Amino acid sequence: MRVLILGGDGYLGWPTAMHLSKKGYDVAIIDNYFRRNACRELNREPLLPALNLHERVAEWQRVSGKKIEVAIGDITHYPFLKSCFSGVAFTGNNDKAKYPDAVIHYAEQPSGPYSMMDYEKSSFTITNNLMSTLNLIHAIKEYKPECHIIKLGTMGVYGTPNIDIEEGYIEIEKGGRKHTCLFPKSPGSLYHLTKVQDGDMLYFYCKTWGIKVTDLNQGPVYGMFTDETQNNENLATIFNYDDIFGTVLNRFIVQAVCGYPLTVYGKGGQVRGYLNIKDTLQCVELTLRTPASEGEYRVLNQFTETFTVNDLAKKVQDSGRRLGLDVKIKAIANPRVEAEDHYYNPKHTGLMELGLQANLLSGDVLDEMIGFVKKYKSSVNTNCIKPQVKWN
Ligand SMILES: NC(=O)c1ccc[n+]([C@@H]2O[C@H](COP(=O)([O-])OP(=O)(O)OC[C@H]3O[C@@H](n4cnc5c(N)ncnc54)[C@H](O)[C@@H]3O)[C@@H](O)[C@H]2O)c1
Repeated sequence: MRVLILGGDGYLGWPTAMHLSKKGYDVAIIDNYFRRNACRELNREPLLPALNLHERVAEWQRVSGKKIEVAIGDITHYPFLKSCFSGVAFTGNNDKAKYPDAVIHYAEQPSGPYSMMDYEKSSFTITNNLMSTLNLIHAIKEYKPECHIIKLGTMGVYGTPNIDIEEGYIEIEKGGRKHTCLFPKSPGSLYHLTKVQDGDMLYFYCKTWGIKVTDLNQGPVYGMFTDETQNNENLATIFNYDDIFGTVLNRFIVQAVCGYPLTVYGKGGQVRGYLNIKDTLQCVELTLRTPASEGEYRVLNQFTETFTVNDLAKKVQDSGRRLGLDVKIKAIANPRVEAEDHYYNPKHTGLMELGLQANLLSGDVLDEMIGFVKKYKSSVNTNCIKPQVKWN
């Protein structure tokens, strides 16, 4: 099966590419280095330096014998995306054998704080995230209408409603009649809003053109180890721990190692659904194996367990203490506009039914992350830990 990964240089994209290539998929990846450039521009470099994408695939081929094709470019530029669909970007020829059977769409601006920084970054987030999705839909219609889109969404589209969160759809009853519609959305940042909008766009085109889509509403991911990255730091994924690109548990781990108090935003009662990076790879592969049907907009909630921010801070503190670190927790003013104490009960049975075997957040997982980050303690830039972007 030919799989195109849009955003294949990113935190999730690069491990996904290696994982699928090892499993025998014919993998091609596309990226424009937006993430690397933004980290450099904002002085929020990842913990480890990463080889460029050409070097990464060469190293992967050396250790695995598997080839991954690469094209560097911006998928909001439609002619470039078309050249990737036709195969021209990879081989110079229009070759039907290179038309993808599935596309994994990671290539969006993924940070809430980045999207709330200023006009320029808001405008970029909207343009990048919506035009990338629109271009993808058009390329599929033009080249291979039966191609399955797997788009990474976020649990953040739902917000924190005072009712149970369903997987994508809700049945409502009004005036004695029933109707199933998309679950109401209440995103908490402009970035999350773009995930509502690209989802709505995909839903529209499923109904209108009959395309096949799975939207994976993912919670915050943590971790840096997958089977393919574990023993070779040249194959490591990017790992951010800063206020803009770092997800909360990854941030806490680095804060614990470098003796910075864990920055809990506000009361710390915010509950979210989390997952290990290994489970992102599993979920994406399970989804690839069981595509949506023609015209189906399938939504799966992608996380394995829920925690409050305080729970996470406490777990990192306990793990740090086991390893001899003096970890302090400090509640700071919340830069975001969000509920800090709320009901939260999202369903997440769809991926389990497809076969997901969850890697839960055990003490061993935390200890291993802390042990790894310790080796790079001297590279940590503590100036980028405190949140600097406010929502209002
Ligand atoms: N990491 C998480 O915890 C998390 C949680 C929920 C959802 N997601 C979603 O998963 C996806 C991947 O997240 P990630 O953490 O790997 O982010 P990332 O920034 O590391 O990866 C995205 C990649 O896409 C590339 N890209 C962005 N715009 C592009 C464009 N126009 N053309 C070509 N390449 C482009 C970037 O350079 C980057 O390498 C994103 O859509 C994100 O919103 C991530």
